Amino acid sequence: MHAHLIENDKLMWDLWLGRYHLSAVAAADTLDIFQCIEQGAGSTGRLAKQLDLDARGIEALCCLLASLGFIEKQHEGIALSPSSKNYLLKDSLSYWGPALGRARESQEYQRIVDTFLKAQAAKLQENDKELSSMWEQGRIDKKAAEQFTSIMNCSIYSSALSAVQSGAFDKIQHLLDVGGGSGCYASLFAKHCPKSKATIYELPEVCEVAEQYLMQFNSSGQVFCYLGNFFKDPFPSNVDGILFSNILHDWKPEQGLTLLKKAHEALPTGGKVFIHEMLLNEEKNGPLVPAGFNLLMYINHGSQQFSQTELYAMLGQAGFKHEQTIKPHPYYWLLIAEK
Ligand SMILES: C[S@@+](CC[C@H](N)C(=O)[O-])C[C@H]1O[C@@H](n2cnc3c(N)ncnc32)[C@H](O)[C@@H]1O
Repeated sequence: MHAHLIENDKLMWDLWLGRYHLSAVAAADTLDIFQCIEQGAGSTGRLAKQLDLDARGIEALCCLLASLGFIEKQHEGIALSPSSKNYLLKDSLSYWGPALGRARESQEYQRIVDTFLKAQAAKLQENDKELSSMWEQGRIDKKAAEQFTSIMNCSIYSSALSAVQSGAFDKIQHLLDVGGGSGCYASLFAKHCPKSKATIYELPEVCEVAEQYLMQFNSSGQVFCYLGNFFKDPFPSNVDGILFSNILHDWKPEQGLTLLKKAHEALPTGGKVFIHEMLLNEEKNGPLVPAGFNLLMYINHGSQQFSQTELYAMLGQAGFKHEQTIKPHPYYWLLIAEK
């Protein structure tokens, strides 16, 4: 089953991540962020120290506030924007705090504030279990696997299709899709490159779910499942391309580096690694949708989106060379490097 897409899913991403905008501003108001910047905090590091809040979380929240226009931010340096000076300082006659009241009732607001006040990510749960702990341990219950995989399947379709249609994967004969979820990306690759095959490397419970999707995609003769925990088990080595789509953003940078090193070890000389992610800009003040995704990753897993420079550095540390980037979708970039 392949739908013919006449439009990318930009609008869906705007809608899906837009729900954090008002909540992030209300949370920043509750946490006294605007007041503290007005009193001269000057940098995200000092702001975190003065408020006694997690520095990585403050960095993520400020990145979104900056892309919304409520603060000015260049790397770590921060200042209030004219709008927040007028409308978000508690002693201003034009303070909008009372109007933010309803936003404080939302689940999104609660999760942001909880993440900061409990000094740890209010991690994404499926059936009362933290998703990232299940992932790390390599076991996930069936319901959680079904629910999460269905969300990833619909949200990756459009950008994966644009990426394979860009021709970036055309010379790959066997693609390993690490954490390939439903097999959507691998199936789109297989349809575009009918002489090639793909393998998705997934947790056993997700592979079970993926088998159903592969039948719907009509790709089960060309896309195969490799069951395992990508942190503990080896990568298969009979592949010439390895894809990480929305994988590095789930983990701390050092864990991402471990995965890239494993990919480097598994690939032959000349083999390619592909990273499919939304990227933050170098100043870490946007763009808006990746900035929203970055905050969501922080509250879901205590993790983050990266900038291109950060991912190039990780690729270099893992031993890859000739890095290049294409942007086949309004919000997704594809980084390619070679062993
Ligand atoms: C954010 S999803 C990305 C799915 C897909 N690549 C995409 O772009 O839509 C992360 C995927 O990694 C898988 N995963 C997480 N931890 C894993 C592990 N330790 N070993 C194998 N797969 C894992 C999850 O089951 C999930 O499908």
